[in-house]
Amino acid sequence: MANGVEHGLSDLSLSNTTVKDDVEEDVVNPWNVSTKSATGIDYGKLIKRFGSSKVDEELIARFEKVTGKRAHHLLRRGVFFSHRDMHTILNHYEQGKPFFLYTGRGPSSESMHVGHLISFIFTKWLQDVFNVPLVIQMTDDEKCLWKDITLEEANRLAYENAKDIIACGFDKEKTFIFSDLDFIGQCPEFYRNMVRIQKCVTFNQVKGIFGFGDSDVIGKISFPSIQAAPSFSTSFPFIFNKAKVPCLIPCGIDQDPYFRMTRDVAPRLGLPKPALIHCSFFPALQGAQTKMSASDQNTSIFLTDTQKQIKNKINKYAFSGGQATVEEHRRLGGNCDVDISYQYLTFFLEDDEKLEQIRKDYTSGELLTGELKKELIGILQSLIATHQERRAKVTEDVIKEFTTPRKLKFNF
Ligand code: TRP
Repeated sequence: MANGVEHGLSDLSLSNTTVKDDVEEDVVNPWNVSTKSATGIDYGKLIKRFGSSKVDEELIARFEKVTGKRAHHLLRRGVFFSHRDMHTILNHYEQGKPFFLYTGRGPSSESMHVGHLISFIFTKWLQDVFNVPLVIQMTDDEKCLWKDITLEEANRLAYENAKDIIACGFDKEKTFIFSDLDFIGQCPEFYRNMVRIQKCVTFNQVKGIFGFGDSDVIGKISFPSIQAAPSFSTSFPFIFNKAKVPCLIPCGIDQDPYFRMTRDVAPRLGLPKPALIHCSFFPALQGAQTKMSASDQNTSIFLTDTQKQIKNKINKYAFSGGQATVEEHRRLGGNCDVDISYQYLTFFLEDDEKLEQIRKDYTSGELLTGELKKELIGILQSLIATHQERRAKVTEDVIKEFTTPRKLKFNF
């Protein structure tokens, strides 16, 4: 029998993300994101292609009703634009039942950039409003398999990045952070779930989902089971005992293939499917078509940048939707849809009214590019300064606390 049929994976085979049906199609998978459009990826099309659901007004209203809190600006402004089963999680929460959050980071470079913070800022908000446990996976194993770095280096980077993550303000009573390389060998239940997942997925299926080929190393082929395992509460007995607690995963839309696979195997393991809430991509300074690259320091603002570097990079590199001369700009106005400084403000300027005023004034030509950039520079300088202060306070002892397998402040 064909494997897809045997395992009922019809869902997965349809959603192969590497297939391009026409030349103009955006490419979105865990290793590659690209588009030809100046306004960036077409997220509406992506929702259709991936078969996820749109974060619409109704869902946002439910968030507010259920939590009694104003929705986060990243939710209201459509940065978290897509989801799977968010309503199920909200129903569950409304009935007073628990869930947990799971997110992660592949530690491929020393310094993270502001785009990497988005998902963690939002996850922290979710943890605060729902008061739930959170597990954060540092996939040092993944980065060693995919990049030209040693295990030791990947493991070191995991802890360097963990400092930046801790600096986002997570509650240590409610958060467990782990390096795959250090944790998995200590936790038989995690490994058992990995093997259970491995038993459900064939090579054919991962080829279809992730595009693996004959010359990929075998570590890559089994890695999806490692990223899937934290979606199940039974992988963390010290937090959840034996309880089967539903999971919500905030992640970049590029990580969806991993969790489509996870959701597919969950019922066969008698475990709840993880719910997801997907984030759009953070654009490079040079524009929405270009890629941010950790090796090119000028494509983004890094958490290690000095105040002066922030100012210079934005002034020099942030792609402008403004006109060539002041006269033309006053006459024709700027284009917020392609202007990177404006885009960045939608991520980091919390004040809705101020943002709307800036949009109006820039579009009409009243606000010049230099003035718009000045606004962004101020916001990022203060964000990064605060981040650097908080990171400096993350000592080895603090890291140890977050990364020790332990019971959190919840009873299961
Ligand atoms: N693969 C992700 C990366 O390269 C890291 C990761 C692991 C992750 N588990 C996750 C991201 C869960 C989001 C949610 O960055």
